[in-house]
Amino acid sequence: MKTIVPRLKPDVFYTVGHRGTRGLMPENTIQAMKKAIDLGSNTIEFDIHITKDGQVIVYHDFSFNPEYTLLPNGKEFTEGDRKQYTFYQMNYADIRKFIIGEKKYSSFPQQKQVACYTPLLSELIDSVETYTKTNKLPGVNYLIEIKSNPLTDGFEQPVPEIMVDKMMAVINTKEISKRFIIQSFDIRPLKVMHQKYPEIPVGLLTWDRKISMAENLSNMGFSPDFYNPHYGMVTPELIDSCHKKGMLIVPWTVNEIADMQRIKKLKVDGIITDYPNFFSDLLK
Ligand code: G3P
Ligand code: CA
Repeated sequence: MKTIVPRLKPDVFYTVGHRGTRGLMPENTIQAMKKAIDLGSNTIEFDIHITKDGQVIVYHDFSFNPEYTLLPNGKEFTEGDRKQYTFYQMNYADIRKFIIGEKKYSSFPQQKQVACYTPLLSELIDSVETYTKTNKLPGVNYLIEIKSNPLTDGFEQPVPEIMVDKMMAVINTKEISKRFIIQSFDIRPLKVMHQKYPEIPVGLLTWDRKISMAENLSNMGFSPDFYNPHYGMVTPELIDSCHKKGMLIVPWTVNEIADMQRIKKLKVDGIITDYPNFFSDLLK
């Protein structure tokens, strides 16, 4: 029996644009979020990091990804440059000068090449809220992933408590209550959220088949609202176990329509994809 998370709108099938619309627009940018909404996503997913000057930014890695980033002067950003441009060691004003998405990203050949910058969490939320209001669209859900990692505390990012506090300081100035979920592969920020902000829904991301759901929940010490596995781990039994524990299950990152259809039939509660353009077919 599925228990709906009471803190979110009930009976929602979460159509989640991964990093916005990674398949079609430069990832984790304001443009990618707007595109995801245009294509029918009711939820946008993105990743956060903290800068040296304490700003909360939206980006996947701990430093720029050379596959789709250029230096401020338009020259190549190389793998060797990564270590000297760790976000946690840089001020946001400098991070903003790097060019995201103008360089062709070969892993995503359909992605539009357009010069973007790395946004602040604050301005991303403001831009999305203005966009939905201006276009008379329903408010979108935010699925925010905290990119902490026990192996790199202190040099790639601060400890999870600081990440949570900085993120919440931003979110608390916005009018998105009941429309955001915090997720992570790292159980530590989820524990901090549970302790300090028990009213806010959280989700555990999982990829390791060797760790069972029971073990994950035991490590956490509580059941999160969402249990979000890699889609290759999804079975009817796992879905049933999640629902019996009162957790919703929203797998990632499902990029083939056939996989989306198969998993939806198994009664997952949503799908995270780089290609929200498939949602219109999926929901027919
Ligand atoms: O939301 C699920 C997904 O974002 C997890 O993987 O590496 O794309 O952040 P990653
Ligand atoms: Ca993510």
